Amino acid sequence: MIIQTINLTKRYGKLVALNNLSLEIEEGECFGYIGPNGAGKTTTIRILSTLLQPTWGEARVCGHVVGYESRKIRPLIGYVPDYFGAYEDMVVQEYLEFFASSYNITGKQRNRVVGDVLELTDLSYKKDAIVDSLSRGMKQRLSIARVLLHDPKVLLLDEPASGLDPRARIEMRELLKELHRMGKTILISSHILPELADLCSTVGILERGELLFHGPIHDIIRQARLGTRFHVRVVDQQPLAAELLTRHPGVKKVEQEDGYLLVEMADDVHDFSAMVEMLIQNRFKIREIKEEEVDLETAFMRLTKGIVQ
Ligand SMILES: Nc1ncnc2c1ncn2[C@@H]1O[C@H](COP(=O)(O)OP(=O)(O)OP(=O)(O)O)[C@@H](O)[C@H]1O
Ligand SMILES: [Mg+2]
Repeated sequence: MIIQTINLTKRYGKLVALNNLSLEIEEGECFGYIGPNGAGKTTTIRILSTLLQPTWGEARVCGHVVGYESRKIRPLIGYVPDYFGAYEDMVVQEYLEFFASSYNITGKQRNRVVGDVLELTDLSYKKDAIVDSLSRGMKQRLSIARVLLHDPKVLLLDEPASGLDPRARIEMRELLKELHRMGKTILISSHILPELADLCSTVGILERGELLFHGPIHDIIRQARLGTRFHVRVVDQQPLAAELLTRHPGVKKVEQEDGYLLVEMADDVHDFSAMVEMLIQNRFKIREIKEEEVDLETAFMRLTKGIVQ
């Protein structure tokens, strides 16, 4: 486990920003850290980046404990905050050279490393531009370039796609996919779940300092389902089929919708085969059956209590 928090708690005065958070991220994972404004995402990331001390509980990165072993953690991580720092009157290349030197990367190695990260982040053509003149998307990529200089194992990215236009978002996502392919472990925060869907395999949903969900994306969808629903179409006599299904104990409700029967299963019933069997025994010809899909947006809305659909 490359990142682990155990009962991590952070208070700002009376406000509990993180409440007994236990999070585990495996090496090589791309983990989406999702939650509405004020959920505690930045607080967690700042603790993992060793910039903030927990009130109690423990955070570990590569086995080292934040606080006691912060100096061992820093070379292993690349932290991109949700704002862009100073030094904006520098030229892109100088900017990266400056940070490379601060990691004790010098001479020929520095030239090579700076060239490499410029290429990886698609900024080579901007190497002579003043940082301040870059677009927001380019600045975000430059922030990532900066934390790649020392080749960290873990990237902690706080909303790297916020404020970007759709095209820049896609470019950012491609860059992160590439970094993931290179073997980096990535923790990326966002307040929108669908944005991370094709990037992250695992997600954690945080609300008011508590983890509501932690696991694979497809499990979120399953969990967010308010009972399983099936769309069914029979060849004819659909109203009769509806009546029959309604009487089945595994079925909660049947509605007719656009030529379909929308069958809502009783709680804890997910298997439709008994209903199929019953329809066949009663000589209905089934044209189509499919389980209703819950998209990530809906799943997210249902899981985060604060938001009403
Ligand atoms: N330095 C601080 N002093 C006092 N309260 C703070 C401080 N930093 C954060 N908080 C509070 O802690 C809670 C969590 O904040 P945090 O910035 O971690 O949330 P977030 O999930 O990153 O939100 P956002 O999506 O808006 O970035 C909020 O209620 C915030 O007001
Ligand atoms: Mg934040």
